[in-house]
Amino acid sequence: MSTRPDLTLDPKNWDSLRKLGHQMLDDMFDYLQEVREAPVWRLMPASDQSKFEEGLPYRPQDPEAVYADFKELVLPYPTGNIHPRFWGWVMGSGNAVSMLADMLAATINSNVCLGDHSAMKVEQQVLAWSKQLLGYPSSASGLLVSGASMANLTALIVARNHASGGDMRRLGARAMAGEMVMYCSGETHNCIRKAAEVMGMGAGSVRTVPVDEQFRIRTDLLEEIIQNDIAEGCIPFCIVGNAGTVNTGAIDPLDELLAISRKYGLWFHVDGAFGALAKPLPEYAALLHAIEEADSVAFDYHKWMHIPYEAACVLVRNAEAQRQAFAQTPNYLLQHERGVSAGSHSFGDYGIELSRGFKALKIWMSLKTYGVFAFMALIRQNISQARYLAQLIEQHPHLELLAPVDLNIVCFRYIRTGWSSATAQDVNKEILMRLQEEGIATVSATVIQGRYALRAAVSNHRSRAEDFDLLAAQVVRLGNVITESVCFG
Ligand SMILES: Cc1ncc(COP(=O)(O)O)c(C=O)c1O
Repeated sequence: MSTRPDLTLDPKNWDSLRKLGHQMLDDMFDYLQEVREAPVWRLMPASDQSKFEEGLPYRPQDPEAVYADFKELVLPYPTGNIHPRFWGWVMGSGNAVSMLADMLAATINSNVCLGDHSAMKVEQQVLAWSKQLLGYPSSASGLLVSGASMANLTALIVARNHASGGDMRRLGARAMAGEMVMYCSGETHNCIRKAAEVMGMGAGSVRTVPVDEQFRIRTDLLEEIIQNDIAEGCIPFCIVGNAGTVNTGAIDPLDELLAISRKYGLWFHVDGAFGALAKPLPEYAALLHAIEEADSVAFDYHKWMHIPYEAACVLVRNAEAQRQAFAQTPNYLLQHERGVSAGSHSFGDYGIELSRGFKALKIWMSLKTYGVFAFMALIRQNISQARYLAQLIEQHPHLELLAPVDLNIVCFRYIRTGWSSATAQDVNKEILMRLQEEGIATVSATVIQGRYALRAAVSNHRSRAEDFDLLAAQVVRLGNVITESVCFG
């Protein structure tokens, strides 16, 4: 037997790591408290960028030195989505309780796949709460996943396998009786098309249906397309409805989509990445009620519920269909009557991943700490802030609203009489980049009916009315400056 001490990653000196940990915690609280004073975004200087090219560290360093690297190279250059004036894409702002929860989860480092242990129970409770939140049946199954892309993919795999009727698990695409096709509006997030590609169905299996002037799916055209597909020998299997489209926040007529799904015997899936979470608000109850009847629904906790990345949820009405799409019992995963390998449930049977992190804890602790009413009040606040921004835009002669504001997304542009679409695009692109480079605010961009749009997705619990005043004023200021500059004058 060797006389050398056994190796471990635990520190020799717990006291110094504990001291560093306390310092980190203090620094992170300071950082959160002071975030409003920082620029929303800043460019990492080339001298710092080059440090990311250093090779694999074979030799140890003091954790104090590694933390110093974090403070120098990482902390000053984040995406910025915890800042009050970040409205790019659709991102959540995080929260302090979840920050602590992530540390607790990493400490116990549970693998939330199977077994009889607390993390399994926490996730099961979070799933039960998710169903309650959306009025979904308690008998449904579900899973926490990384994001809505994965939640949508998981649901579509269940839908496809369930509808194929054949032995999809064994035969793959050969089990499909013909070309299986699904339907969604042209405003649907690209993750649906990506899911079809990943599932081996091809992007062509996603029929994109035109939208009305409010960017909602045209159900009359949907029926026509379905009937056409049936006549051509294709096999329709699923309709995807949007509870909040990514571009403009439009809510498809979900009740009509549900009725059409039932009429043609199709799976009805709702992509509610952020919009599904408006459902508990009485003013959105009617628009989103059909979620309760959907065969599956996907939504993010990391967007409008401000759980730190990554956290999303998929719920499936027919629990057995979800299990049948994924369950396997290899010898090394056998469950037992007692001990940690007991417990009748394996999350690995309900999705693609086997090893899974304890993302449920940050949701569980946030929901318990803040309460659902707080999240709902914040969602309502964001919706009225989006409307306020829309008003500011409509009141200004050089700002133009490019889409109705149904939820929390505002698409607009700076415009002057007589500008071509190309000039408007060049100016607004420049405005967007300068807003970001000057650290004023982050909005992202999209194209609405061929027109380049600045797009503010208001899912931020730190934003205040004055932040929107500043955004509108700064867009006008930058628009004026750019218009007067040599390039666009
Ligand atoms: C409507 C919609 N669906 C799906 C997604 C994808 O979500 P995630 O980025 O969490 O994968 C988004 C992202 O913004 C979205 O807005």
